[in-house]
Amino acid sequence: MTDKLQHRVFRTISDIAEEKKVDAYVIGGYVRDIFLNRPSKDIDIVVVGSGIDLATETAKRLGNLKVTTFKNFGTAMIKYRDMEIEFVGARKESYNRNSRKPIVEDGTLEDDQNRRDFTINALALSLNKKKYGALLDPFGGLEHLKQKLIKTPLAPDITFSDDPLRMMRAIRFATQLNFRIEEETFEGIIKTRERISIISKERINDELNKIILADKPSIGFKLLDKAGLLELIFPELSALKGVEIKNGIGHKDNFYHTLEVLDRLAPYSNDLWLRWAALLHDIGKPASKRFDEKAGWTFYAHNYIGAKMTEQIFKKMKLPANEKMKFVQKMVKLHMRPIALSEETVTDSAVRRLLFEAGDDIDNLMTLCEADITSKNEEKVKRYLKNFELVRQKLREIEQKDHVRNFQPPVSGEVIMKTFSLKPCKEIGDIKSAIKEAILDGEIKNDYDEAYRYMLKIGKEMGLEPVSE
Ligand code: CTP
Repeated sequence: MTDKLQHRVFRTISDIAEEKKVDAYVIGGYVRDIFLNRPSKDIDIVVVGSGIDLATETAKRLGNLKVTTFKNFGTAMIKYRDMEIEFVGARKESYNRNSRKPIVEDGTLEDDQNRRDFTINALALSLNKKKYGALLDPFGGLEHLKQKLIKTPLAPDITFSDDPLRMMRAIRFATQLNFRIEEETFEGIIKTRERISIISKERINDELNKIILADKPSIGFKLLDKAGLLELIFPELSALKGVEIKNGIGHKDNFYHTLEVLDRLAPYSNDLWLRWAALLHDIGKPASKRFDEKAGWTFYAHNYIGAKMTEQIFKKMKLPANEKMKFVQKMVKLHMRPIALSEETVTDSAVRRLLFEAGDDIDNLMTLCEADITSKNEEKVKRYLKNFELVRQKLREIEQKDHVRNFQPPVSGEVIMKTFSLKPCKEIGDIKSAIKEAILDGEIKNDYDEAYRYMLKIGKEMGLEPVSE
C-alpha cells in the first residue's frame, strides 16, 4: 500500500510522528476508498497520542496552514489544497463526531478500531517509518470489501446503540456501494430501530439524501422499509405500501411504483430536488383513494393533496423551506399534466398553458413525467412515449413562437390604470387576466401592440373609456 501514501501530506505526518515517537495511521473512509478505487479528498488520521499536537505541527510544515480545533473532542482539522485532513487521538469511546459527549479516555489503535461503525470503515494504514503502508485490519474488513458486505466490528447492538445513525449509514453504504448487509447486523438494525428517535433530523436527512442520490435509490428505501426504519422516519412514504382489492379490482402498489420512478429518473438527473419530487409525486394517493363502482380505484386530485403534503413533510422533516420546497411542490402538482396532454390531441393552447405554468422547470417536469411511465403493458408504454415526443416537439415550437415560458403580461397594471384613469381596483386584475387568457388561448400574440388593443376592447366591454393624453 506504500504507493498510495506517497503524497506530501502523508510523508510529512510520518516524519512528525517519528520525531514525536507516536504512532499515526490513516483510517476509515479514505482507506476503504483506496481499496474500492474511489478517490477521496477527506483524510482521517488517528494518532495514539494528541491529535491536536500532530495537526498543529503538520499545519506548520505544510505552509503555516490554519488549524481548526475541537478541544472537547481532541480533534483538529486542516485544509491543504483540496484536501481536508482530520486528526484525532485514538479513543476508547465510540467514534461519533456529532455526539455532544466529550471523549473521556485515550485508547490504543485497537480500541479506536473497535468503536467504529463497520469493518470496512475500521481499516487503518500505518504511517510509521518501520511499517509504512502496513494494513491493520482486525475484523476482516478487506475480506468484507471483497465480499461486498456491511458488518459491524462489535456485536451490532453495541455498535448501533453507540450511535443509532449508523443504522442509516449501513443502509446508505449498502445502497451506494451495492453491498449486502450481513444478517446479524441487519437483525441488529431491526432490534435497535426505535433508537433512531434520538438522532437529529438533519443527520437523518444527510443519509436520506445520499440514498436518494445513489445510482439505484430503491435499494436503500426497500432496506429502510424491511428494517422498520421507514415508518419511523418517513411514515408518509411507508403509507404508499400495499394493494387493496375490491370487486376483484386492485390498484398498483404505490410504494414500489414510486421507487421504480425514482430509479428510472436517476440516470437522467442528479438533481436532488427533482429526485425528491419523484419520491413525493404520488404521496397524496392514500389520502385521495376512493373506490367507485363504475370507475374502479380513483385517486382524484392526488397531485394537489400531494403538493400540500410536500410542504408539511418538508417542515416536519426539517428539509429546506425555501425555493427548493417550492420546486418540489410544483413538480408534484404538475406531474400529471404532460401525460394528460399526450392522451388528447395536443392543442397549441394546452401546450401554451403547460409552458406558462411550468416556466423554466418544464424540462425537469418532462423528465419526471417520462420516468413516471411504468406500465407493464409494453404497447401502452410505447404509445405514451411516442405521444410524449409529440408534446416535446410542440413545446419547442410554441416556445419559439410565443415565448410564454416565463410569461410577463405585455401590458402592465400601470398602463391599464393610466389608460382608463383608474385607481387600484379589481378591474385592473380582471383586464390583466383576460389578456393572459387570450394569449394562452392563442387569440392574440404575446406582444405589446396586440395586448394593448385587446385591453381597449375588454375595457370597452366593461364600460371603461380611455382618457386621452
Ligand atoms: N464513523 C463511525 N461512526 C459514525 C460516523 C463515522 O464509526 N457514525 C467513522 C468511520 O470509521 C468512518 C469515519 O468515521 O469511516 C469517517 O466518517 P465519515 O467521514 O462520516 O464517513 P466516511 O466513511 O468517510 O464516508 P462518506 O465520506 O461517504 O460519508
